[in-house]
Amino acid sequence: MATNDTNQAGQPGPGAAPFVPGRLISHFSGRDRQNQADGWSALWDTDEHDLWDRGKPSPALIDLLESDSTLIPRPATSGGRRPRALVPGCGKGYDVVMLALHGYDVYGLEVSPIGVETARAYAATELAARSDYNFSDVSNQEKYGAIKPGEVKFVVGDFFAKDWETDCVAGDKDFKGFDLIYDYTFLCALLPSMRQDWARRMSELVAPSGVLVCLEFPLYKGLNLPGPPWGLREGIYLNLLAAGGNGVIEDEIVAQDAVQVSTGGAFERTGYITPPRSYEVAKGTDRLSIWALKRPGNRL
Ligand SMILES: C[S@@+](CC[C@H](N)C(=O)[O-])C[C@H]1O[C@@H](n2cnc3c(N)ncnc32)[C@H](O)[C@@H]1O
Repeated sequence: MATNDTNQAGQPGPGAAPFVPGRLISHFSGRDRQNQADGWSALWDTDEHDLWDRGKPSPALIDLLESDSTLIPRPATSGGRRPRALVPGCGKGYDVVMLALHGYDVYGLEVSPIGVETARAYAATELAARSDYNFSDVSNQEKYGAIKPGEVKFVVGDFFAKDWETDCVAGDKDFKGFDLIYDYTFLCALLPSMRQDWARRMSELVAPSGVLVCLEFPLYKGLNLPGPPWGLREGIYLNLLAAGGNGVIEDEIVAQDAVQVSTGGAFERTGYITPPRSYEVAKGTDRLSIWALKRPGNRL
C-alpha cells in the first residue's frame, strides 16, 4: 500500500511526528463494513491502485517457493495434479502469475471487476514474456523457465461470500479446498471487525492438507492508528488463526501476550520465517507465517 499511508512508525507519543492520514485512509474514513467492497472498487474505477501496488511479486514468497522447504505443497516433478493456489484480494495479480510460473494452478480473487480486467491484461503480457522479477536469480529463471506454467484464472467475487467458489471448482468433483492460499496486504486491508470472518473463511477454503501462507504486514504500524493498512502483529495472527479470537487488539502488551495462546482456532502455525528479502516498505519487519489446519482431535 502507499508509502504515504505506511510511514507512520509507532504509537503517538511525546516527540512523535503527528499522524497524517494519506489518501487511502481518507478514502475509507467513516465507511462501515457494508461499504468496504464498494470502497475498493471505487479506487479501481478511478485508476488509483497505485496506492497499494508494489509493482512486482512478493520476493519473500518467491524465495520460499524456490527453497527446499517442506512446509508448502509442491508441484509434482512428473505427472499428478498441480497444486491449486488462491490469492484473495490479488490486486493486479503479480503473485498469481508468479505462482503459476512456479508450477501452481492459481486463482486470483478480486472484488472489483476493473481489478480483474487489469489483472487479466497483466497476466496475458507477463505470461507471454516473463519478467526477471518473478525469480530470485538467473539459475532459477532457467530452472522454472523450463516448466510449463500452471493455469491462471481471475475471478470477480467477495471473499466473504461463497458464490465465486463454484467458478473455481467447476468440473472438479474432487475439490476439497486450496492447497496453498497466499495473503499479502489482504488482512490489513480489512476493517479490524472483519478479521474473525477472514480467519473463518480461510479455514473453509484451505484443503485439509493445504496451507495458508501469510506475509505479515504491517508489523511496525501503531495498532491504534487508522487504516488501511491496519497495523498487525504476530500475536494478532496467532490470536485469529490459532486461538480463534477476534484479532481486534489495540494494546501492544496484549498483542505480545497473544503469542502464548495456541489453542482454540482452526489453524496451527507450522512455520515462522524472517524472509531474507521482502518489499522495502516494511524496512525488514515482514514475517512469513505458514499455517495448517489442526487435526480434528486437536481443536478445542
Ligand atoms: C491492499 S490491496 C492488495 C492487493 C494485492 N494483494 C497486492 O499485493 O497488490 C487489497 C485488494 O483486495 C481487494 N479486496 C478488498 N476487499 C475484498 C473482498 N471482500 N473480496 C475480494 N477482494 C477484495 C481490493 O480490491 C484490493 O485490490
